[in-house]
Amino acid sequence: MFERIDYYAGDPILGLMEKYSADNNPNKVNLGIGIYYDENGVLPVLDCVKTAEARIADPIAPRPYLPMAGLPGHRKGCQELLFGKDSQILQDGLVATIATIGGSGALKVGAEFIHEWFPQSKCYVSDPTWGNHIAIFEGSDVEVGKYPYYDKANSSIKFDEMIAFFETLNKNDVILLHPCCHNPTGLDLTQAQWDTVLNVIKARELIPFMDIAYQGFGEDMDSDAYAIRKAVEMGLPLFVSNSFSKNLSLYGERVGGLSVVCLTVDEAERVFGQLNAMVRRIYSSPPSHGGHVVDIVMNDEALHEQWVGEVYAMRDRIKAMRLKLKSVLEAKIPNRNFDYITRQNGMFSFTGLTPEQVERLQSEYGIYMVSNSRMCVAGLNTSNIDYVANAMADVLKD
Ligand code: LMR
Repeated sequence: MFERIDYYAGDPILGLMEKYSADNNPNKVNLGIGIYYDENGVLPVLDCVKTAEARIADPIAPRPYLPMAGLPGHRKGCQELLFGKDSQILQDGLVATIATIGGSGALKVGAEFIHEWFPQSKCYVSDPTWGNHIAIFEGSDVEVGKYPYYDKANSSIKFDEMIAFFETLNKNDVILLHPCCHNPTGLDLTQAQWDTVLNVIKARELIPFMDIAYQGFGEDMDSDAYAIRKAVEMGLPLFVSNSFSKNLSLYGERVGGLSVVCLTVDEAERVFGQLNAMVRRIYSSPPSHGGHVVDIVMNDEALHEQWVGEVYAMRDRIKAMRLKLKSVLEAKIPNRNFDYITRQNGMFSFTGLTPEQVERLQSEYGIYMVSNSRMCVAGLNTSNIDYVANAMADVLKD
């Protein structure tokens, strides 16, 4: 009966994590999945989260179903983080926000919404992008295309080509954008470049869909949301998916949000209703534990401040690792330019290694990065960085 079912080749990122776990090499280093490990190679539980957890645990409360849209405090937390605490559109009730099962859940509900209400729209993703973007939209029967982004020869962004491409798109086509810490390249647009992109989007009546999974890891909480807030200022309709996996270090709790910025309150109410309907038919309502943590940390002023500090400490450690990696590689291979390592933002560095070089790092050194050459810099620490830099230098020299 099931013999015609296709085998699943596995996920290139999650599969790598399994392979890493099974590797017996004592020197192995995990630079694959986008997870922040601290200086000791440990996945941290943030102090603000510990405090929130203690509040949730005492007293242990009953667990009713949450509303389809999740906890109001979770939704408010998403909105204020993305649009700013004093945002006028929030006061005016123009944003429909639901709490979601991680950033992937937000993308899924958004993709379903686009499929149902904008059936003619295609979705364009950057070349390259996070692989699951393509899988999620195609899985919702939305046709996916790619727009020019990464310039391998110069380790930069093909900005002019990208704009020229956007100029060819049709009204209501969706453009998936990474407001900060582009995954996988780490290369972000400048604010002036964002302005140009948003002007084209406005002129051609395209739909921006911004996926922000690393807010706080680029420059700071507000600067990282520049593109989102500028789109709002320009009066654009807008989808935003956000994730708390990385910046609350709550990967397994699956907490995120989907916000749709509308032009009138009536539109926002309609959209909110349809998002609820979509949630009901896919998974009914989100789980409660992570939602409560988000609610507490985002809405308690002191915990929120502590949280921001903890995110910036993670950001700064990653930046320090970038500097160190660059200087070790420059010393080892003086005729090669490694400036790209510190020009990139967030957790990832697109190293430009060939698939063969990536494979050699894995089989000969136990160093795991994604086959497209993406390295998670947050897996580096002072104990493993020389080992990694030496290994990279070896495979680059041969
Ligand atoms: C990544 O890009 O490594 C993360 O977003 C984790 C994932 O689910 O792929």
